[in-house]
Amino acid sequence: MDPREYEVMAREEERHWWYLGMASITRALLNRWVKPERCLNILDAGCGTGAAMTTYLSEYGDVTGVDLYAEAVTVARKRNASRLVRASVLDLPLAPAFFDLVTSFDVLYERGVSDEICALNEFYRVLKPGGQVLVRLPAYNWLRGRHDERVHTRRRFTRGLLKSLLEQSSFQVQHLSYANMFLFPLALAKRIGERFVPPSDNESDFAVGGLNNIFRRILSWEAPIASRWGLPYGLSVIAIARKP
Ligand SMILES: C[S@@+](CC[C@H](N)C(=O)[O-])C[C@H]1O[C@@H](n2cnc3c(N)ncnc32)[C@H](O)[C@@H]1O
Repeated sequence: MDPREYEVMAREEERHWWYLGMASITRALLNRWVKPERCLNILDAGCGTGAAMTTYLSEYGDVTGVDLYAEAVTVARKRNASRLVRASVLDLPLAPAFFDLVTSFDVLYERGVSDEICALNEFYRVLKPGGQVLVRLPAYNWLRGRHDERVHTRRRFTRGLLKSLLEQSSFQVQHLSYANMFLFPLALAKRIGERFVPPSDNESDFAVGGLNNIFRRILSWEAPIASRWGLPYGLSVIAIARKP
């Protein structure tokens, strides 16, 4: 990622509608599909600045974060994320069959991950039998925009592609859903608009000003639907799968 994006992330993660809404969706998915009844060993693969680790994943157990970049690990450490490893998801310096849950939020699409299958194989290796993986990725390659250049997107995914990659890594897919469906038309209009009037270099995809709270609520409304039935389209795609 462009180092400037870590600063944006760290600033926005605790108050921005996208992060807060996605956290509601993730919680709903974990409560329905992972059903933690005990303290889990969790790996957040590509933990970035550690917001998920320290805000809600820690409610489910002991969380270890891995990220390739020093800038991310430094910010995560300031957030009091104690178990942090600077390493690549392509070669995890972690023992096999140790984790109950691996989460990976918006990581495998990056140019820093040259091969998703290699990363998914690593998730499989570090999971206990019966352990689960929750992967979230940006959806639809045709939606690529200026933001993708800034965050070094290699490719965007569909539900079918994510399912196939998980199956190639021997996972059993339990649930698939898109997310950020209700706001999809606005995002689509923005992406089309960008093709005619390119945004300035320092204009983030995140800026929505006074609409923050409304957008957060709209995104959070998706949580029960995404976790129970799955949403048919959206800006992100999420999968939960199990190691047999
Ligand atoms: C868009 S950020 C998402 C961060 C965090 N998961 C979140 O949801 O806020 C993508 C993260 O993946 C990390 N990353 C990219 N390639 C990686 C690799 N090969 N191994 C580990 N982390 C990587 C980046 O440093 C960045 O922190």
